[in-house]
Amino acid sequence: MPHDPAGPWHPETLAIMAGYDPAMASGAAKPPVYLTSTFVYESAAQARDIHEAYFRGTGPMAGQPNYIYARLSHPNLAMLETRLAAIDGAERAAVFASGMAAQSAIAFQHVRPGDSVLHCRPIYGGTDALYNQLMPRFGAHVVQMFDGCDGEHIRARADLALAQGPLALIVIETPANPTAAITDIALVVAIADEIGARTGRRPLVVCDNTFLAPFAQRPIALGVDYNMTSLTKYCGGHSDLLAGGVSGRAELIDALAQSRTMLGSHCDPFTCWLVLRSLESVAVRSERAMANAAQVATFLRDHAKVAGVTYLGFLPAGSPQRAVFDRQCHGAGSTFSFHLHGGQDEAFRLLDALRLVKQAVSLGGSETLACHSATTTHYNVPAADRAAGGITEGTIRLSVGIEHPDDLIADFAQALEQV
Ligand SMILES: Cc1ncc(COP(=O)(O)O)c(C=O)c1O
Repeated sequence: MPHDPAGPWHPETLAIMAGYDPAMASGAAKPPVYLTSTFVYESAAQARDIHEAYFRGTGPMAGQPNYIYARLSHPNLAMLETRLAAIDGAERAAVFASGMAAQSAIAFQHVRPGDSVLHCRPIYGGTDALYNQLMPRFGAHVVQMFDGCDGEHIRARADLALAQGPLALIVIETPANPTAAITDIALVVAIADEIGARTGRRPLVVCDNTFLAPFAQRPIALGVDYNMTSLTKYCGGHSDLLAGGVSGRAELIDALAQSRTMLGSHCDPFTCWLVLRSLESVAVRSERAMANAAQVATFLRDHAKVAGVTYLGFLPAGSPQRAVFDRQCHGAGSTFSFHLHGGQDEAFRLLDALRLVKQAVSLGGSETLACHSATTTHYNVPAADRAAGGITEGTIRLSVGIEHPDDLIADFAQALEQV
């Protein structure tokens, strides 16, 4: 049977087949790794035509997979970008050397001196630093919003941003690192549309989908302009690589990929190959991790030494957050935070007593990882901002893996005894 990448396939199926056809490589069932920095032309005229196709999108080679130099694109990058776009339900995707490379490419692409940016809080510490430390050096004004489900609040914060300069970007991360705070994606898109109609410049909506990954939340279908994901996490899935992806409309992504050539932040062939392979199993890995997380979160919630668990599955019925979660998410994820009674001493005692669960930042790997948010991932965030984002001195972030859930619960049970 011929390979049919255009069939009416579900995203889970596209994750296994899109972007690579065995006919591309001597029938090899799996793609080769193209370890080359440059590509040889058949003639000077072909070299010219390929450059014309790349830079102008015209000429006899337009629309073909033309490669020039691996920083511009290479076969493994093209395969991965095709697959990621297919999974996300987007026209195009661009893949970068890390999630932060993807996030900063978007910032440098759109934010001009005097512009403003609105972002949710909490937000990943690296993104926080990008917008609150780096972008202001280029003349950007940055405003935060604290309740991503409250339209009045978001509009008021957007007005505050607009008072300082044209609003270039609304950057949301939902669920957010580390507390899994939720933002209503469709509401933010509607507010961006309102601002566009009112001011003549519609801010672009960037959604960081890292925490739920491509299957449990589908931001493109909800209207975002850029769907950004740290592929380092669930998509890579084994804590052994760094990569970042952005999907969206062709005109936005093509321009972003051209800028990536100047920034030099493309993803290398072997890492692309690893991510392409890992995407095949992200749906089943996520399902297992989410099932484990539900059991671990329930155990922690019911433990006397735990003050609270910010796990999406526990959002109270009738709350605005629950309504957004039910509408927007197809699963509760497997990264969440829990808050111990007490503070740093208690948190450190628990972490140091864990025997199976490893202490490390990052998330979305096959193994369970835990870290103390205030002194690791959010070390660089001012204490008041941490507190506003719900991070206390007793907050521990957990990324639940795919081990046997009974072993995870036993490890937390014995470690909590020692707090
Ligand atoms: C929500 C979120 N977005 C973006 C990033 C950055 O991704 P990377 O580490 O691949 O640069 C992280 C990293 O932890 C993250 O948690």
